[in-house]
Amino acid sequence: MSTLAQQYDFSGKVVLITGGSRGLGHAMALGFAAAGANLAIASRKIDSCEATVAEIRAIGRDGSAHAAHVGKWDDCNRLVEEVYARWGRVDVLINNAGLSPVVPSSLETTEELFDKVIGVNLKGPFRLTSLIGPRMVAGNGGTVINISSTSSIRPAPDTAPYSAAKAGLNILTVAFAQEYGPKVRVNCIMAGPFHTDISKSWSRTEGFTKAAREGFPLQRAGEPHEVVGAALYLASTASSYTTGAVLTIDGGSSYPKAAHTAAG
Ligand SMILES: NC(=O)c1ccc[n+]([C@@H]2O[C@H](COP(=O)([O-])OP(=O)(O)OC[C@H]3O[C@@H](n4cnc5c(N)ncnc54)[C@H](OP(=O)(O)O)[C@@H]3O)[C@@H](O)[C@H]2O)c1
Repeated sequence: MSTLAQQYDFSGKVVLITGGSRGLGHAMALGFAAAGANLAIASRKIDSCEATVAEIRAIGRDGSAHAAHVGKWDDCNRLVEEVYARWGRVDVLINNAGLSPVVPSSLETTEELFDKVIGVNLKGPFRLTSLIGPRMVAGNGGTVINISSTSSIRPAPDTAPYSAAKAGLNILTVAFAQEYGPKVRVNCIMAGPFHTDISKSWSRTEGFTKAAREGFPLQRAGEPHEVVGAALYLASTASSYTTGAVLTIDGGSSYPKAAHTAAG
């Protein structure tokens, strides 16, 4: 049996992360680099991917930057070709890119917005895993981590398509775990509120902060670095008997404290 340090040593491994330029993806990219991995960083804006690659090089690892809109099938195809041409392998795929626009009502949600939300949060992870899973099976195996949301189990009316897409991602996790096991493990992190760009319209508002302080067991939103340990765990051999799992990291916000009543 290997030591804990060996289990979490990603030296020589290649991690492809979508949305690795900001927020949770950026924190995970730097976490994997610190653990020895080389990174392929993908997002729509090549400049911000290159900035993350520069940070990765500054800590002694290597990286590559890739412009790709993961809601587009062709971009996913090209991304995978580019990454295999550069690195020859992918050991860990992290389907992290996502967006959750708030809409006034379902009636006012346009077809374009609906398709975009489903495309980025669900279709992209489906296509990338479909392309990379078989290559992992044919090679040395690997792990896939999907970044879902607690809104997949506690949907709000103003983000219904997003919640539906993330619920679909939870299900894809189980389906792909079956399709590509035993050489490939596929797991999911179901994130609660974190302070990132995606949440800045609400995560620091007085209303949210008060609700968190009074209702969440951990009384606050998370910081991006607080997701890194879970991603390392799910990608490492420390989790070698874990697949098809959905791990909640939300400060307890899925189950806020019940209000006390006289009846108890
Ligand atoms: N923060 C939260 O409270 C929270 C809660 C639950 C779940 N999540 C999930 O966690 C994941 C990361 O969220 P975050 O908060 O870190 O978001 P963020 O700070 O807004 O970052 C999103 C990342 O995804 C990239 N991206 C957006 N659209 C893309 C597209 N079409 N194709 C490729 N890349 C794209 C962005 O780069 P470009 O702009 O360059 O494309 C950026 O790197 C998402 O899946 C999100 O749904 C977040």
